Amino acid sequence: MRFAGKSALVTGAASGIGRACADRLASEGAERLLLVDRNAEALRELKLGCEVSPLFGDVGDPGFWASVDLGNIDLAVINAGVAGAGMIADLDFAEWRRILSVNLDGAFLSLQAALRAIGDGGSIVTVASAAGLKPEPGVAAYGASKAGLIQLTKVAAKEAASRGVRVNAIAPGGVETPVWDAVSMFADRAREIGRDAAFAELAAMATPLRRYATAIEIAEQIAFLLSDQASTITGSVLLSDGGYTL
Ligand code: NAI
Repeated sequence: MRFAGKSALVTGAASGIGRACADRLASEGAERLLLVDRNAEALRELKLGCEVSPLFGDVGDPGFWASVDLGNIDLAVINAGVAGAGMIADLDFAEWRRILSVNLDGAFLSLQAALRAIGDGGSIVTVASAAGLKPEPGVAAYGASKAGLIQLTKVAAKEAASRGVRVNAIAPGGVETPVWDAVSMFADRAREIGRDAAFAELAAMATPLRRYATAIEIAEQIAFLLSDQASTITGSVLLSDGGYTL
């Protein structure tokens, strides 16, 4: 029970990695979860064995954060994010802004709210991506947002260290979650050969371990960074990519 009696903020908690984090925190004794998502319906459906405060809104909207009171928290997972692809020469500015407004503006506002609400000795994990470390054609907006998030995380780690607050990032490679359904290359292939086969095909292309992670695996690694087992780790980026960046 690593999180007994703790209060935790999780953004993007209605699906994928965020949902798996909420499950993991609740199953390890968290007392109170503040779960943020813009998908109110999916957030309402979550059944967790602890006190839950669902907060519906857009993490990239400063008005949303001004309207919520987080109280005192011990832990935070800054996870909400969107995917998107496009070569720089063809990328609409609106698409660039759509991705940056959630993945970087939203992460900044979430991190700011978390740092204001977190007590001394707390722990924060941001969910970056291997795409923030490895340049590939077509990932300009997403990759830049996640590279920015990695630097933001490191700055936060230095700013918060005097309070004993740790701030780390996890950088997953591919993870089998619904975020891929918005990527047309994947969605088209999944319609042709099925979702599992499409994930296997994608993983075989560029991931040496030849498989993507599950959301549960990533949530367990986030839980490690949140926990006292990682008590001397701050400002680090835990790369969990099956060797994709090698
Ligand atoms: P997902 O699509 O399953 O879950 C994302 C959740 O965030 C959804 O519930 C969505 O409603 C919420 N969300 C999105 N924009 C929001 C906003 N503006 N305000 C509030 N909530 C918002 O996706 P997944 O895969 O669980 O992604 C979680 C994080 O993991 C993201 O930051 C993503 O970039 C990152 N990641 C995912 C990888 C993957 O292969 N699935 C790989 C590397 C990083």
